[in-house]
Amino acid sequence: MARFAWLLSSLALIASAQETRDPAAWGSTHAGQPVPDFVQGDECLFCHRNNIGPGWQKNSHGLTVRQREDAPELIALLKNGDGTTHTMGSRNHIRFLRKDGYGKFDLKDVAKPDWQKGKFENRCAGCHTTGIDAESKTFREVGLDCYTCHGVVDLDHSGDVSLIFLSKKRRSDVLAITSTCAQCHLRGGRSRSTGLPYPNNFVPGDNLFKDYEVNWAMAGDANTNPGDRHIWINVRDVAVNGGDTTCLSCHRLHANSTDKHRRVLTGPICLECHNAQGPKKAVKAYSVHSELCEY
Ligand code: HEC
Ligand code: HEC
Ligand code: HEC
Ligand code: HEC
Ligand code: HEC
Ligand code: HEC
Repeated sequence: MARFAWLLSSLALIASAQETRDPAAWGSTHAGQPVPDFVQGDECLFCHRNNIGPGWQKNSHGLTVRQREDAPELIALLKNGDGTTHTMGSRNHIRFLRKDGYGKFDLKDVAKPDWQKGKFENRCAGCHTTGIDAESKTFREVGLDCYTCHGVVDLDHSGDVSLIFLSKKRRSDVLAITSTCAQCHLRGGRSRSTGLPYPNNFVPGDNLFKDYEVNWAMAGDANTNPGDRHIWINVRDVAVNGGDTTCLSCHRLHANSTDKHRRVLTGPICLECHNAQGPKKAVKAYSVHSELCEY
């Protein structure tokens, strides 16, 4: 009997290990279609200037690409007259950009004073600018506009907030939320249709994995830093294993806070950053690197 019990529980384990889902099975994709029309951030902030405006001016999503007038502290690091029109980065790592016609930038080399043509559109644009056309590889807006997370917004939402994605009344679709954040935060994926290292015309609400190819082994790769790895683990747990802890269980985006994370039920993900023994506050030191972002 004991042997049977052992066999049965092993079978149950195997069955539960196979109870993973195909991450591409649900929902829609806009890969290959034109970028939809969307309401721009300035218009949103006209109405949301009091609740969202002040925090947005300090939010790294809004600041990730800025025109030089808006980033005097970064421009001060440059010698004058090198042609820089925009800056990239807001926290630890900074790059410089030069406008090159409609919706395009040249990227200044990390080490040399050279301008790299074509690199920004082929390697960076999809996660640092808004509304990239897959054919021309031009962007619509500099930096990350409200659209990148809230999607195509119905202005009637002012009377019925359930009409808008990520409002208090529409924040429960764990798959859609995870795809939305993962479109940029799964660094190392690739669009099947374009071959580029960022998604093809992802519109919030879509299923990222219909067109975005990722290697889930990144979630267990000891060479990945904990900053990126906790993202890989969390996205895999939702998209493949059916978990319901999302980025928003721990992060409050506009408040730029992770206070909530202390209250999430303990799980293996905690050990990415905390020690197993000792007080909970024993946070391991880690630093974030990215081959893709060149830092
Ligand atoms: C369109 C791309 C994109 C999307 C969508 C996106 N992010 Fe980001 N996120 C970035 C980039 C780029 C940065 C770094 C910006 C910089 O510092 O220049 C960033 C930074 C962050 C940071 C670090 C903030 C800080 O100041 O330390 C957190 C946390 C974060 N994102 C969480 C999220 C969550 C949660 C979602 C989903 C609701 C999300 N992001 C959606 C691109 C994106
Ligand atoms: C797949 C999406 C994606 C692509 C493509 C991408 N990045 Fe990033 N980048 C991010 C995300 C997400 C972050 C924030 C990571 C974090 O804070 O942990 C980031 C952060 C950065 C930062 C650091 C900002 C800071 O304030 O510290 C720089 C600089 C940067 N990227 C430059 C680049 C460059 C240059 C390229 C192209 C060669 C590029 N990135 C391509 C998603 C991307
Ligand atoms: C990087 C993703 C992202 C971007 C870009 C973004 N938001 Fe949000 N927004 C969220 C998330 C996630 C929530 C859910 C609450 C939270 O985490 O802050 C949210 C919530 C909100 C709320 C409801 C606040 C509340 O009290 O719950 C408003 C209003 C809002 N966003 C407006 C904007 C506006 C306006 C912009 C552009 C200036 C914008 N958002 C850009 C992700 C984003
Ligand atoms: C004409 C004014 C107006 C414009 C333009 C506008 N909003 Fe709103 N929005 C409102 C009002 C009013 C509400 C409901 C009251 C509230 O929660 O702030 C609301 C609610 C929201 C909520 C849900 C807040 C909650 O309680 O959960 C989000 C998210 C949001 N707006 C984002 C946006 C984004 C993103 C844009 C631009 C694409 C935008 N809004 C444009 C007026 C506007
Ligand atoms: C179990 C809670 C939890 C979950 C789930 C979670 N995070 Fe985090 N994340 C954290 C904590 C805590 C930090 C560290 C904050 C700090 O250093 O102050 C962090 C840090 C980050 C950073 C900054 C890394 C750096 O240092 O540059 C980014 C970006 C980020 N998270 C994005 C995400 C995204 C996107 C998701 C969803 C796919 C997600 N996180 C899911 C708790 C979580
Ligand atoms: C991405 C890294 C990261 C992950 C994952 C993470 N933490 Fe944290 N945690 C931190 C950092 C950094 C701090 C200190 C800064 C802060 O308070 O946000 C912290 C602080 C805490 C604190 C407060 C400790 C004190 O003494 O003030 C608690 C409790 C906590 N984490 C619990 C958890 C739990 C439970 C999980 C899993 C659900 C978890 N953490 C996952 C990075 C992380």
